[in-house]
Amino acid sequence: MVEAIRKSTREEREQWIKEAKYNLFNLKSDQVFIDLLTDSGTGAMSDQQWAAIMTGDESYAGSSSYYNLKNAIKNILGFDHFLPTHQGRAAENVLFSAMVKSGDVVPGNSHFDTTKGHIEFRKAKAIDCTIDEAFDTTLDYPFKGNIDLNKLEAVLSTYTKDEIPMIIVTVTCNTSGGQPVSMANIKAVKQLAEKYDIPVIFDSARFAENAYFIKLREEGYADKSIKEIVKEMYSYADGMTMSSKKDGIVNIGGFIALNSEELIKECQVYNIMFEGFITYGGMAGRDMNALAVGLDEATEFGYLETRIKQVEFLGEKLMEYGIPIQYPIGGHAIFVDAKRFLPHVPKEEYIAQTLAVELYLEAGVRGVEIGTILADRDPETRENRYPDLELVRLALPRRTYTNNHMEYIAAALKNVFDRKDAIKNGYTIVNEAPILRHFTVELEHK
Ligand SMILES: Cc1ncc(COP(=O)(O)O)c(C=O)c1O
Repeated sequence: MVEAIRKSTREEREQWIKEAKYNLFNLKSDQVFIDLLTDSGTGAMSDQQWAAIMTGDESYAGSSSYYNLKNAIKNILGFDHFLPTHQGRAAENVLFSAMVKSGDVVPGNSHFDTTKGHIEFRKAKAIDCTIDEAFDTTLDYPFKGNIDLNKLEAVLSTYTKDEIPMIIVTVTCNTSGGQPVSMANIKAVKQLAEKYDIPVIFDSARFAENAYFIKLREEGYADKSIKEIVKEMYSYADGMTMSSKKDGIVNIGGFIALNSEELIKECQVYNIMFEGFITYGGMAGRDMNALAVGLDEATEFGYLETRIKQVEFLGEKLMEYGIPIQYPIGGHAIFVDAKRFLPHVPKEEYIAQTLAVELYLEAGVRGVEIGTILADRDPETRENRYPDLELVRLALPRRTYTNNHMEYIAAALKNVFDRKDAIKNGYTIVNEAPILRHFTVELEHK
């Protein structure tokens, strides 16, 4: 499917972003020329997926589309049990309703914001055990999504088994820059988890991209297919939550998949309450059909190579211009290091948000802040949490833009970089939600 995009003038964008209270989520899509807000649900489906849509079975219970998806999940990921949900956070909501209680701790690698939100909403705590290398954007390290085993064991040995419902491994790790987790690390986490008898759950939005990096960067995997690598990855998991809007290459959908029949039965109760019956869970039959095909396409090397090479193309252009980005380049996005880009803007004025707004004003390119606004306030002290990294994420929708668009984005960011010394003031918050504030926050220019 091809969609038209619309160019605008700087004057128009100044007016629109002011009306949007300097929150890029508030812009209308036709006020954006190139939309890199997210790679979530924004990709183009294939001919095979559209064909599958036409044969969707919309029966309330036991549809053939449900069984198509069940088979795809079994064949590609290896799980016997699954529940469809309307998207990734819904899978988290259902699974955590069954597993997470007040006072628990959930260790993992830089939990995604909705994951953390669902943990904290239940008055539990997400503990970040990502390796320190992930927080130095200049360091060339192949698996910056890895979990630090010492940090993890410190958590596992401090709390009781009853207080640790699961360990979450996010593949790839979105928050630390779309960075992969190595197979060796996945395996070691599983071994540690077995020692303490704690289940391992993969937050799986970009699991196929993770497998691609294992194939390219980890010894012993060059000759394995992506599907073989994916199977091995999941042999070390007890279950998974999935946002199908990423590596399912569909516009909406998610699921939970588990080894445990007992746990899936517990989740079914919440699925029926929050999502829908257990054989559709918030998804239309046609969407489940498209997802079954999408999972298969996303785990083909040719598709992954084309996608990730486009991200690399953009990243290399930016590096050529001297623009500081998270290195090595991640799977689904470029993460611009805003602290190094705009050293004059104080952290209290939201450095990454300032840069994201500047890029929009410059050329109508919409990225997203991955910094203090996203990090929310500490649930107890209500103080801003200042993360180590202030990033602007430029996420590339799958199968959507051409490399010509990448050249445009790079040139736009270079123009901002050339005038960076003149950008001194950021923003103040005038209105915010108590949790997950970045979606609806309202700002004023300083
Ligand atoms: C790693 C990760 N987990 C979970 C989610 C939540 O998924 P959804 O947006 O489908 O609710 C996302 C979405 O961006 C994600 O990147």
